[in-house]
Amino acid sequence: MDRDIGIEIVGLRLRNPFILAAGILGITGHSLRRVAEAGAGAVVTKSFGLEPRTGYPNPTIVEVQGGLLNAMGLPNPGIEALREEVEEAKKAGVPVIASVYGCSEGDYAEAARRAEKAGADAVELNVSCPHVKEVGAQIGQDPDLVRSVTASAKKSVKLPVIVKLTPNITSIVEIAKKAADGGADAITAINTVKAISIDIDVQKPILAAGIGGLSGPAIKPIALRCIYEIHKEIDIPLIGCGGVTTWSDAVEFFLAGASAVQIGTAIMYKDLGIFSELQTGLRGYLEEKKVESIKQLVGLACRNNNKTV
Ligand code: SIN
Repeated sequence: MDRDIGIEIVGLRLRNPFILAAGILGITGHSLRRVAEAGAGAVVTKSFGLEPRTGYPNPTIVEVQGGLLNAMGLPNPGIEALREEVEEAKKAGVPVIASVYGCSEGDYAEAARRAEKAGADAVELNVSCPHVKEVGAQIGQDPDLVRSVTASAKKSVKLPVIVKLTPNITSIVEIAKKAADGGADAITAINTVKAISIDIDVQKPILAAGIGGLSGPAIKPIALRCIYEIHKEIDIPLIGCGGVTTWSDAVEFFLAGASAVQIGTAIMYKDLGIFSELQTGLRGYLEEKKVESIKQLVGLACRNNNKTV
């Protein structure tokens, strides 16, 4: 008999632990629905702010060794458009998580409130975009701001609040503790790693914005280390994000302490078929290891490694 790979996280029941990451194919309600119909356990929208934003000029994305480098500039139609996207995505019957960003505590609280009104099942605070000034990582790199932004979003909604952290920081554990102090229901780790690629013919950065964020297989060991470190220090549900391309990558994240994983760049390599491939592989692993549920795997590598360095 097939192993049950369903999970419960932040009070939501997911049929499997594979969640679409923010920004990848979450461009419209229809694309979110398509991903859900392809088998995702939940979907995260692209990041919405209170006002529409055009984003950066092209080029905004470039393929590099080990992944993709992007600097889109948080393009979005403004949070008023979220309701329509959520309504469409929800037709596929999986939880829809709204990603929101802002420039202040008040912006995040208001965006979370509007996401709740739009019918989202949870909100993910993007405090981690690595290159848009005044939003994202400028907030996510300041421990006290992470705490206060999280606390005010929590105060403004009944929805579960997830905080997506940046790896572009000395200690992600310190930031994660502040998110937990602010009342976060879960943490997503990580957003992209700040990076650059240079065109040697024109002798300037390829991306119009110059610096961007690296995603894909190259950042998997970084993301995994972040989950491992946070799990060792803080008792809060974790969602792994960064370079998950195969079912065994996902298993590594569970063993490090994640209860679910987000899939982003891998969709570019494998298309939407990746969601059924991941499920089949994970079921096979649970069967082979005689493990009843994913819960039994979560953090096992931390418990099995009693060395502290
Ligand atoms: C972007 O829109 O440039 C990327 C958003 C992010 O990394 O959070």
